[in-house]
Amino acid sequence: MLVLGIESSCDETACAVVKDGEGVLSNVVASQHDVHSKYGGVVPELAARRHLENLPVVVSEALKRAGVPAGDVDLFSATFGPGLMGALLVGLSAAKGMAWAVGRPFVPVNHLHGHITAARLNHRLTYPHICLLVSGGHTSVYRVDSPVSFVELARTRDDAAGEAFDKAAKLMGLGFPGGPAVEKAALKGDELAVKFTVPTIREKKTDFSFSGLKTAARLALEKNPRVEDLAASFQRVIVRTLVSRTVSIAREQGLKQIVMAGGVACNQKLRGEMKAACDGAGYDVVWPEPVFCTDNAAMIAAAGFHKFAANPDDPAWRNFTRVDAAANP
Ligand code: KG4
Ligand code: ZN
Repeated sequence: MLVLGIESSCDETACAVVKDGEGVLSNVVASQHDVHSKYGGVVPELAARRHLENLPVVVSEALKRAGVPAGDVDLFSATFGPGLMGALLVGLSAAKGMAWAVGRPFVPVNHLHGHITAARLNHRLTYPHICLLVSGGHTSVYRVDSPVSFVELARTRDDAAGEAFDKAAKLMGLGFPGGPAVEKAALKGDELAVKFTVPTIREKKTDFSFSGLKTAARLALEKNPRVEDLAASFQRVIVRTLVSRTVSIAREQGLKQIVMAGGVACNQKLRGEMKAACDGAGYDVVWPEPVFCTDNAAMIAAAGFHKFAANPDDPAWRNFTRVDAAANP
């Protein structure tokens, strides 16, 4: 089954063609970093307008690279949320319009379900497993019971891990997006130079809270440390917190596979520390390749395929009435 997916929830305009939920025939991503970098964050109105300009080109390119005419697509899917409303509407409307034009079903996909599915594009996953989803908008740990069902076990109470990287990078004058910039600066820094701590939430010790880190970074900056040292120390505390809480949840749940997802899962330090902790505990850890960690449409097409396969006769797929705003996935 050939699935065309569209992702437009934030600042990436993306389209992909994926076969049977696994074989990526094309994966095109147009980033808008040039539009937003001067503001130090994503400007919703500008994002939506840029999606409108980019999407037709991105969709044509994805079909061309896959060698698939639009009429040969069996199923269309697009991210319905969470995300920026105006941005989401561009991708959703385009995917529904194409599905309607060629008489094929349309499946709306939860962006988080997409991220959780991404590692399946390169790896064999066992169910249930633990997924650490770390992106610019979300930081959560899930128990993933099947390709279409997952339960949130822990989450951030305030900032997402990627958001913490982005805010700290802005304070340090390292640019946007902050995660890769902090990672690069950290390579030349001493990670023990500045002391950071992440609080433990008393009622739920596995939840995260990263918002205090930006104040701590601002105060640390007043002492004029080397930016590289600050970046390395900042990265260390986030990575250690993510690793220790995720591994402790896996232990509590008795599950031996940890899957990472989201933009922050590109971070080499996080990958290395998680691998070391998992090797020590006898767990298996996998992560998507970098293009499938950050926002992309292959993960949306794959999740759309699994939703459809789980319930192929749902009339909503054909009459486009499913909105799913509150549903999960
Ligand atoms: O998954 P994603 O592309 O978009 C969201 O759904 O949010 O994640 C983007 C986030 C940004 O906050 C970015 O700074 C972070 O992922 N990120 C990283 C790295 N690459 C991207 N954070 C740390 N280290 C990286 N190498
Ligand atoms: Zn995302």
